[in-house]
Amino acid sequence: MKVLLTGGAGQLGHALRQKVPEGIELIATSRNGGDALLPLDLADASACRAAVLKHRPDWVLNGGAYTAVDKAESEPELALAVNGGAPRAFAEALLETGGRLLQVSTDFVFNGQQGSPYRPEQSRDPLGAYGRTKAAGEEAVEQVLGLAAGGAGSGRGVILRTSWVIGPVGKNFALTMLRLHRERGASGQALGVVEDQVGCPTSTASLAAACWRVITANVQEPVLHWSDAGAASWFDVAMAVGELAQELGLLEQPALVNPLTTADYPLPAQRPSYSLLECSGSRKALDLPALHWRQA
Ligand SMILES: NC(=O)c1ccc[n+]([C@@H]2O[C@H](COP(=O)([O-])OP(=O)(O)OC[C@H]3O[C@@H](n4cnc5c(N)ncnc54)[C@H](OP(=O)(O)O)[C@@H]3O)[C@@H](O)[C@H]2O)c1
Repeated sequence: MKVLLTGGAGQLGHALRQKVPEGIELIATSRNGGDALLPLDLADASACRAAVLKHRPDWVLNGGAYTAVDKAESEPELALAVNGGAPRAFAEALLETGGRLLQVSTDFVFNGQQGSPYRPEQSRDPLGAYGRTKAAGEEAVEQVLGLAAGGAGSGRGVILRTSWVIGPVGKNFALTMLRLHRERGASGQALGVVEDQVGCPTSTASLAAACWRVITANVQEPVLHWSDAGAASWFDVAMAVGELAQELGLLEQPALVNPLTTADYPLPAQRPSYSLLECSGSRKALDLPALHWRQA
């Protein structure tokens, strides 16, 4: 089975490339290519279409995205081209070739105001530019591939939403906290981290396993949710990074972490305050175990 992967140099891309299931021929791409990756610019819809027509993959695993949440507020056109235009181009081309699409999406398509975990069939209502562009990508895939919102799949594609992705390489909150704990723990300076945004971290290893399971088991659900188990605020994650890093000998002295409110730490993009994803049905469909986020 042939899989065309985008975002091969990203956090998820690294994890996917490390655990390619047997029997899969992987064509991995990144924006600039190199390091065994073919170049593919997701902002170029005709290049996305041409890649599908050239390689005729059984699946496109669209793991690449414009993920700079705050920068997207000042670059919405580029974010939309990458997050909305590329999935549409892949879906349209795959309709011609007969392949399928796995579109990776985000908890940021929800507004975070309902105070309980979001189910896969719930309506989107993004707060910021990043969420709006990822929502546009979902809408395009649903429309082109005939995935009825809240209804049946056509078998031609799957949208898999995840949250707070954390892995050993790339840019993520845990690696930033590890650096800050190292810098500030030694000098006795404190860290301030927001306590009033709640979600669930997801390790790239478990997310990659979920993506590969969608493909190898040919899962038919139109929309899946995948995060690790439990719930946390960013403050909880910052605390856990300090504790775990000390236990693992990565850090001598964690920094003191002070809880902040979102209002204390203004950023360009508004974020959902409670964006847990309800994953129980997806865990059953994927037949994968739930690992607590701290363990993962
Ligand atoms: N990170 C999170 O917390 C999070 C949460 C929920 C959902 N997600 C979703 O999960 C998926 C994987 O995210 P991730 O954490 O692995 O993100 P990531 O580490 O930022 O990786 C995304 C990759 O996409 C690439 N990309 C961006 N613009 C491109 C373009 N024009 N052409 C080609 N490649 C381009 C980036 O390349 P450059 O490095 O060259 O820019 C990067 O390698 C994405 O769909 C994301 O929306 C992520």
